[in-house]
Amino acid sequence: MCGIVALIGSREAAPQLLEGLRQLEYRGYDSAGIATVAVEAGCIPARLHCLRAEGKLVNLTARVEAQGAPGLCGIGHTRWATHGKPEERNAHPHLDGSGQLAVVQNGIIENHRVLREELQAKGVVFKSDTDTEVIPHLVARRLAELQAGGLLASGSLLLRAVQEVLPLLHGAYALAVVWAQAPGALVVARKAAPLLIGLGEGEFLCASDTPALAGFTRTILPMEDGEVALLTPLGIELYDAAGERVQRTPTLLSGTEHVADKRSFRHFMLKEIHEQPETAALWVARHLPEPTVGAAAPLVALPLDAGLLDGLERVQLLACGTSRHAAQVGAYLLEQLAGIPTDVFYASEFRYAPPPLSAHTLTVGVTQSGETADTLAALAMEQERRRQVADPAYAPRLLGITNRAESSLGRLVDQVLDIGAGIEVGVAATKTFLGQLLAFYGLAFALAERRGGSINGRSPEQRRALAQQLRQLPQQLRALVDDHDRRCEALAHRFAETQDVIFLGRGINYPIALEGALKLKEISYIHAEGYPAGEMKHGPIALLDAQVPVVSIAVPGTVFDKVLSNAQEAKARDAQLIGVAPEGPDTELFDVVLPVPEVDELLSPLLTVIPMQLLSYHIAAHRGLDVDQPRNLAKSVTVE
Ligand code: F6R
Repeated sequence: MCGIVALIGSREAAPQLLEGLRQLEYRGYDSAGIATVAVEAGCIPARLHCLRAEGKLVNLTARVEAQGAPGLCGIGHTRWATHGKPEERNAHPHLDGSGQLAVVQNGIIENHRVLREELQAKGVVFKSDTDTEVIPHLVARRLAELQAGGLLASGSLLLRAVQEVLPLLHGAYALAVVWAQAPGALVVARKAAPLLIGLGEGEFLCASDTPALAGFTRTILPMEDGEVALLTPLGIELYDAAGERVQRTPTLLSGTEHVADKRSFRHFMLKEIHEQPETAALWVARHLPEPTVGAAAPLVALPLDAGLLDGLERVQLLACGTSRHAAQVGAYLLEQLAGIPTDVFYASEFRYAPPPLSAHTLTVGVTQSGETADTLAALAMEQERRRQVADPAYAPRLLGITNRAESSLGRLVDQVLDIGAGIEVGVAATKTFLGQLLAFYGLAFALAERRGGSINGRSPEQRRALAQQLRQLPQQLRALVDDHDRRCEALAHRFAETQDVIFLGRGINYPIALEGALKLKEISYIHAEGYPAGEMKHGPIALLDAQVPVVSIAVPGTVFDKVLSNAQEAKARDAQLIGVAPEGPDTELFDVVLPVPEVDELLSPLLTVIPMQLLSYHIAAHRGLDVDQPRNLAKSVTVE
């Protein structure tokens, strides 16, 4: 949700800033901009070149190529609009009145209105509707006061002014500031929004996320909450919120998965759907050890501390969007497989209406990006309110399920289950959803084994049989993805003009119906609803006619017959029926069958989700839409 980059060093900044923004464009693509500082003929103040363009990054790139943005230091931004329409005047960077100071920001300054009014009362003229614009005005005014007191312009002075302004800002932010009077300095700061410093040779690149750094350096210094840094080509000065100097050792980015590459696929989303067999194969290799005869080896190998899981009585899952759908499947598994009571919450709701505290409770934050503001805030609140209780039974136990172990989530929770799906660029989550599901299978198995003789949940023999079936998953997924890629492409034209689609599922496949509807909505802009199939007759059935397709997930198990009956009810209202179901006499009522192999019902979501993803993808692609960057959305939602 907005991406920022900032570079200081000894080479032209603009190309690297644009490349960094290209890698961050998944975070927002309403507009983009850069500001560079160029010393011309040795003159100070230097000249600030600020170029901005509405729309995607290509528009900005063309402008930079045409007009030039010289300088060895600069900042950049790709925007997902919060305050102010996606127009050029609201694009970042924002400048102070003199045009000498520029700021990019990711986050929300919650008290911007009050600050704006105070500044306007002092004669400041605003050029945008954004919350961010208060920052350059506040910093510039503080700099003017310090200079009026006799202090000379320098990087240290800029640092001091930013440090003195930050306490005035309420909310969450990551920001970068450059000043034409201190052309060899860059100041960056973060509070509850991500910011990483990449260490190059005689140069530093800061960015909201690792993809922007991957081609630049593998040595990174993630900034902590409240920290401010002054960067010059010679080094970093890092300070905590109290203004104390901080020394911290940089870490190394691991693997090559941080680099985004579409390979030969038309869209990242399609590539990522096709990568799911590998996501599963990696999970099987890491967590499902081959059974050894006679040995009491665990069914799953999950690197979790006993302190998190011992004596658990309850689990609560916090998540948003697609991650919440994974959590809903997870709750089903934790209850049905491990026999442990589990609640799922929208993170954005939990924070403002938390349930009464329960003892011996594991709280799991599920977020592929590890940066979703609502999920982080809900987890932090839960941690804090549990810390206030003296009884150790209520002590916080926090687990994160994420694709970004190095994210803010990773630093907040006690332990992380890294789904290791590799970078996902398509805004619509696909392979990370599968990875989250697999993490929940692992967690449910681990808890079931730990609880051994629990009266609820599946027996050890049933669990062993399930684990055995799970080993087949990578091959099943390979066949399924290839098959449904063709089938869904051939089917897509039938839905090109459709206005509404209903997705039905029951039990463990109800969240998959929700996920199918969400995928379709977000990338094809077709209205879709997911319902528990049995609920349809309590209202939504009124929507059905020949124009409304119904996608029904009907897999053998506890509710197979019931779902088929619910599908019959839709057929009786002339709905076109698409069944995600095994082929056979039972499923002949469907107009189209998207076949899935028969597996234990508890494992079926891992397969039924594939036709959901591919149907949505091909409908959106057939409609000629921007599948990877759907309107109004962003990959990482770092505002509440
Ligand atoms: C939908 C989608 C979103 C995210 C949601 C939470 O395809 O990707 O609904 O699931 O914004 O994001 P994370 O998982 O990063 O917390």
